Amino acid sequence: MKAIKTLLGCTAICAASAASAADLEVTHWWTSGGEAAAVSEFAKAFNEKTDHNWVDGAIAGSGGTARPIIISRILGGDPMGATQLNHGRQAEELIEAGLLLDLTDVAEAEGWKDIVNPSSLLDACTLDGRIYCAPVNIHSWQWMWLSHQAFADAGQPVPANWDEFVASAPALVEAGKVPLAMGQQPWQSAGAFGVMTIAIAGIDAWREVTVNKNADVAAGPEYAKVFEAAANAREMAADSNVQDWNQATNLVITGKAGAQIMGDWAQGEFQVAGQTAGEDYTCLPGLGVNQLLDTAGDAFYFPKQDDPAIEAAQKELAALLLSPDVQVAFNLKKGSLPIRGDIDLSAANDCMQKGLEILASGNILPSGDMNLSPDTQGQIEDLMVEFWNDPSYSAADAQERYAEIIADAD
Ligand code: GAL
Repeated sequence: MKAIKTLLGCTAICAASAASAADLEVTHWWTSGGEAAAVSEFAKAFNEKTDHNWVDGAIAGSGGTARPIIISRILGGDPMGATQLNHGRQAEELIEAGLLLDLTDVAEAEGWKDIVNPSSLLDACTLDGRIYCAPVNIHSWQWMWLSHQAFADAGQPVPANWDEFVASAPALVEAGKVPLAMGQQPWQSAGAFGVMTIAIAGIDAWREVTVNKNADVAAGPEYAKVFEAAANAREMAADSNVQDWNQATNLVITGKAGAQIMGDWAQGEFQVAGQTAGEDYTCLPGLGVNQLLDTAGDAFYFPKQDDPAIEAAQKELAALLLSPDVQVAFNLKKGSLPIRGDIDLSAANDCMQKGLEILASGNILPSGDMNLSPDTQGQIEDLMVEFWNDPSYSAADAQERYAEIIADAD
C-alpha cells in the first residue's frame, strides 16, 4: 500500500509541477572537489528526472560564511528556491517566522516517517507537528584522518588512537611534517575541540555540558584534560598555514601533515584525489577512543514563494533528494551516510562501511548543532579562534571562559 501511495503521491506532486517547468535557484556551500562532485548528483537528478532546472547557487567559503548570506536573503525578501543548511536549529527562527515551505504533504506521500533513520533527523525539521526540511545525509564530526605516507616518512606506525598520535608528533616534526593539519576558519577549531571533548572528557561529561549545559562540569577536571590536550593540539597544528578545511585535508592527502580532525566530508577529498581508505589513509572514528558518530549533516529547506509553479518544483525536489537512487549517488560522493537504511551501499569504502556499522550499532550522539543555539555555537567558535591563534592564551583561562559560555547557553 505504501509503495502505491508513494507512487500516487509522487504522481500527484509530479503532475502538479509538470504543469509548468521552473528554474529553481539552490544555494549551498559545497565548493570543494568532493562536495562539488556530490552536489552535482543532486543537480543531475533534478534536471534529468523532472521538467525543472537546477540553478546552482554555490556560495564559496564555509558554512560560517554562507549561512548568514542565506538567512539574510530569506529574511530580506529575496528567497532562493531551496537551500542547504545543517541539521538542527539553524532554521528555527525562519520556521517560526513562517518563511519556509511546509513539506508535510511530501513527507506523508513519500513515507519519510518510516524512511528517515535516525528519526531525530526528521524531528529536527519538525515544528508543531509540521515538517519543514528534507534531511539528505548524516555527517559525523567524530573522525580523524591519518596519512600513511607522513607516518612512513617519520618511521612511525600509523596511530590507532589519540594518545598514540600525540606520542608520534615529535617524530613527525623531525621528519618535517605538520603533525595536525588545521585550517583557520573558526568552525574548524571549534569542531575539532568538540571531537576532543568526547574522546578525552568522555561521553557522560560531554552530555552533561553539551546537552544539559552543566557549567560545573565544563569547569571541572574532565574538561581541564580537554583544554590541556587542546593546547597541545594547538602547538601541533601551528604550522598548518591554510585557511579552508579542504586545504588542511590536502596536507594529509599529500603526506605533508600527519593527521586532521575533521568530519567525514573529508572523504570526498580523498576520493577525488584517488586515494584508497586503508591503503593510503586511515580513518579513526572517535579518535580511536569511542567508536561513535554524531548526527551532523545537511538538510534542504525551501523558502516560501508566491508562485505555484515554483512551489510545485520545490516539493518535487524535496521528494527526489530522499529517493533511493539519489541517496546512493549523492552520499557515495559526499562521504556521508544516507538518511535511509533500505539502500545498497556495498560500493562504500572501508571508512564509510565503518560509519555504517557504527550507525547500525546505535552508538550515535546528537550533533552540537542539535543541542546548542546558533548564538551559543558562535560564542564557542569565537573562544576557539582566540585560543587557537594565541599561544599565550592558557588552557585554564580558556576553560574558565568556556564554562561561562555554557552557564549562559541556550
Ligand atoms: C558542514 C556540512 C558538510 C560539509 C562541511 C564543510 O557544515 O554539513 O556537508 O560540507 O560543512 O563544508
